[in-house]
Amino acid sequence: MGHLISPSILNADFGNLENQIELINSSKADWLHLDIMDGVFVPNITFGFHIIKQIQHISKKPLDVHLMIVEPERYIDKFHDHGASILTIHYEACMHLHRTIEYIHTLGMKAGVALIPHSPVHLLEDIIQDVDLVLLMTVNPGFGGQKFIANSYAKIRKLKELILKKDSKTLIEVDGGISLDNIGLLLDAGADVFVAGTSIFKSDDPVETIRLLKEYKK
Ligand code: DX5
Ligand code: ZN
Repeated sequence: MGHLISPSILNADFGNLENQIELINSSKADWLHLDIMDGVFVPNITFGFHIIKQIQHISKKPLDVHLMIVEPERYIDKFHDHGASILTIHYEACMHLHRTIEYIHTLGMKAGVALIPHSPVHLLEDIIQDVDLVLLMTVNPGFGGQKFIANSYAKIRKLKELILKKDSKTLIEVDGGISLDNIGLLLDAGADVFVAGTSIFKSDDPVETIRLLKEYKK
């Protein structure tokens, strides 16, 4: 399987939301990444169910929903009802991770677990066989347009080792500060899914940037 591209609309033009989603529909993007922030787990608040509903109606790409909220277990049903295909929750924000991952699966969604930059990958040793993807934050969560944290390369390699050791099928998703400048090194390190916001939406031609990210060869 080749790698996947999941554009994040965090820094897209919300005044022209329909147009921005259509643009992703017409591109080679695999998923559409939605960042949900509660102002508690992270120092920022994004959008809620009303907006997600609009996006669900327009998007032809599966919704890759990244929950940066405390106690995500309280909202799993609602995100399912609002069209999430992939639902990712943070290790640091969920007390009963195993139970919540199982519940996400019960509803027929793919389940992901995310780590912030200071959480080591070995924390996932006893959950790695149960998740469909691990999202490594490659910036501190909360905002788009931040600088990629270089320690992430080593972290991806460690995670890859753990996945192989445990004979898991989980994908490695990387999120934050990703562009055409570092996708090559990230592919080398073992990443499978690439979230990109600023490098796509602030480029002159977002559809072409998505194509270049998607067709990037090691
Ligand atoms: C940050 C979000 C990211 C963000 C990435 O908390 O999880 O998905 O949108 O944006 P860029 O690509 O601009 O770093
Ligand atoms: Zn994200």
